[in-house]
Amino acid sequence: MVRRIHHVGMVVRQLTEAYRFYRETLGLPLLREAVLADQGVRVALLGAGETELELLEPLDPGNGVGRFLTRRGEGLHHLCFDTRDIDGSLQNLESRGVELIDRAPRPGLVGRIAFLHPRACDGVLVELVTPPEESEPPRASPLQLKRAVIGSHEPRRTADRFESLFGLSEVAINGGPRTMLGVGTGALLMVPADEVGGTEGMVALSFVAEDFDALTGVCDRAGTRLLRGSGEVTIDPASSHGVHLHISRYRFP
Ligand code: CO
Repeated sequence: MVRRIHHVGMVVRQLTEAYRFYRETLGLPLLREAVLADQGVRVALLGAGETELELLEPLDPGNGVGRFLTRRGEGLHHLCFDTRDIDGSLQNLESRGVELIDRAPRPGLVGRIAFLHPRACDGVLVELVTPPEESEPPRASPLQLKRAVIGSHEPRRTADRFESLFGLSEVAINGGPRTMLGVGTGALLMVPADEVGGTEGMVALSFVAEDFDALTGVCDRAGTRLLRGSGEVTIDPASSHGVHLHISRYRFP
């Protein structure tokens, strides 16, 4: 049912501020920027391979995104899957008793969209979209999303739920308490909540860099705070607007 991770939504205080890191330092291309008056947000879409990053700036502290910012600060907000037939997908989910926020698709910036209730996906707010047929092909980007990391008290159960709701398949990893599901060229990695400070829901993103050395060089010159590992850097969320961000030299593992 799901073809790829269409985008990952994150809440930021101000787009212009967030652009300094995401566009200038990381070099992600800006695909679109718009004000959605009905939702009270200013939105930007940045390209990251076959996936996009959706930056959401609340225009009113009283709306959903505004309250999220007040309560939890900047950070990851939702995960959006690309589905070929959003009407069919919603009907299927509803017939199985899945808790939905939108029972019918509505027009959004990226196509016809609908949200599931986070309770349906173990604390992850999931959006579905069917983009218009004449969508542009992905633009070149220095980073590609490799995986979204999801914390869960029962990673196996959460993985089973995502498999069954969205028709995803498990990707073999070397055992242990973690489970990985493939989505397009990306993946969802379910990890025990204990490993991520007890947090349930989407906790981090991993990207692979087209030119790892060039990218870490730019980060150093920009004063980005990061931790160096072997073949991977972890950006301090203070530098990446509340998002735990891993950037790897290699596509695998
Ligand atoms: Co979205």
